[in-house]
Amino acid sequence: MERTFIMIKPDGVQRGLVGEVISRFERKGFTLVGMKLMAVSRELAEKHYGVHKDKPFFAGLVEFIISSPVVAMVWEGDSVVTSGRTLIGATNPISSAPGTIRGDFGITIGRNLIHGSDAIETAQQEIALWFKEDELTSWESSTKGWLYE
Ligand code: RTP
Ligand code: MG
Repeated sequence: MERTFIMIKPDGVQRGLVGEVISRFERKGFTLVGMKLMAVSRELAEKHYGVHKDKPFFAGLVEFIISSPVVAMVWEGDSVVTSGRTLIGATNPISSAPGTIRGDFGITIGRNLIHGSDAIETAQQEIALWFKEDELTSWESSTKGWLYE
């Protein structure tokens, strides 16, 4: 089964949207296999967003991610990487579709509430970066037969 790394950013936690975000992934039918609320170290934030290290927004992004706790999660299901990105919406919330997390709750790109892995390979790297093996729990939901043919 495919897995993806989802992080509720400091703005999502501060604005009380943790339950809302979890609920959207649950209602879709995805399975939560790991979750922790944590203060992020500068080193972890810089590694996580390493692909953007030469961008003008990198320093501000790292400061933002370490400014207040985040909720790190791993979700599992068919095509969860792509589908997770669809649930999240476009990067800039001002143009994210209504019905998406960013479209419903955000206004500016620097406060877009949530991160989701952008490809299967990235998801594997990010899960390994954020979680130890024993922090993830494989289990099968009793609803599986009603979600998949
Ligand atoms: P993310 O990695 O957080 O899930 O977001 P994303 O794939 O939709 O967008 P990405 O291009 O990877 O950008 C990472 C995060 O950097 C911040 N950003 N700020 N000020 C700016 O122009 C700007 N551009 C990007 C956003 O927080 C974005 O989510
Ligand atoms: Mg990204």
